[in-house]
Amino acid sequence: MTDYFEHVAAFVELVEELKAQVHGPGGRFVAGGGKVPGAPKPVEPHLTGGGRVRGGAGRFVSKKPVAGGTAVVEKPKTALEELVSKPIKNGQEIPNNLIESGERTAVGVGSYNAPMKVTLGDKAYFIKTTDNPQGFGGLSREQVLNNELRAPALGQAMGLEMNPVGILQHPHLGTLVVQDWVEGALPAHAIDARPIVKALSSDTGTKLLMLEYLSGDRDRHSSNLMVVGGQVREIDFGFSQQKTVGVSFGRSYLADHMNERGAPISPMAIRSVLSKREAILKAVEPFSSPSAVKIMTKRLDRLEKAYALMVERQNRGEMRGLVTPFAFQQCLLDAMD
Ligand SMILES: Nc1ncnc2c1ncn2[C@@H]1O[C@H](COP(=O)(O)OP(=O)(O)OP(=O)(O)O)[C@@H](O)[C@H]1O
Ligand SMILES: [Mg+2]
Repeated sequence: MTDYFEHVAAFVELVEELKAQVHGPGGRFVAGGGKVPGAPKPVEPHLTGGGRVRGGAGRFVSKKPVAGGTAVVEKPKTALEELVSKPIKNGQEIPNNLIESGERTAVGVGSYNAPMKVTLGDKAYFIKTTDNPQGFGGLSREQVLNNELRAPALGQAMGLEMNPVGILQHPHLGTLVVQDWVEGALPAHAIDARPIVKALSSDTGTKLLMLEYLSGDRDRHSSNLMVVGGQVREIDFGFSQQKTVGVSFGRSYLADHMNERGAPISPMAIRSVLSKREAILKAVEPFSSPSAVKIMTKRLDRLEKAYALMVERQNRGEMRGLVTPFAFQQCLLDAMD
């Protein structure tokens, strides 16, 4: 409980600090509040403001007449105009004036990652820090950042819908991760997502579980399963543990509730994941240290062995009927070398 109040107090402090900041020359923060004489305004022109219209091919062109002729001078898009024109791509660099240019509100005040919603024109972004003063179970900031980015790359390569994550280097707030805001999304616990998890197809459920296993994440609680439009989506992989190849279904909301119904593991879905081995390794490589790639390779090897073991056990009649997540977890454990 003390921890909780400490987190809230730290967050309130951060918000207060942000309120007190003003921009100095070059868009950098100056502490202390008040106006800085002569400082250039770092905020880009309002995205929906006058003076600009959409030209052909969606480009911004100046409305002002050009002296001595009728030619229309095209202005290149600013970084923010470019940003809001498309969905975020995984690993994309986000312009660092997004936070100051948009309207900011705190979300999830209990979280130590100080998440916020930033609205800019008709687009909104979910942004959180990667600088946790308590550390993430011994993980460095760089590992946390890689973890946040690696999992969406992994899930996408497996054919799952993921929230791509961009990186914003902020002069004051440090390295932030940015996602497109998902309207109407709720954490699984907020609406009791058990019926939705139970209704998952074996194919999707198995792929989601394989994502949890391959990412090595041990933080798959009900807040890290997002429910949107009746579908579940895995989020928040900052805490992935790349140092181990352990099996982590134990703290998985998904495994618990798929299992409650005895939702079967789909052998075809596992085969499909295994067939994408090369694509998976290639997708995660930009967001992985060499040792993280090694771990991922080991996990894929182990998944392959566990699958072979499951088939063998079924053929020998040792494993009957449909395979539950925990029965498959046993195969993963037994596939240890
Ligand atoms: N892209 C998004 N759009 C809208 N809401 C989001 C988005 N991403 C996350 N959220 C909401 O914010 C909550 C916190 O997100 P997330 O788990 O990524 O942050 P966190 O600070 O790491 O969480 P915690 O440390 O509490 O596990 C989620 O449960 C979800 O409800
Ligand atoms: Mg979370």
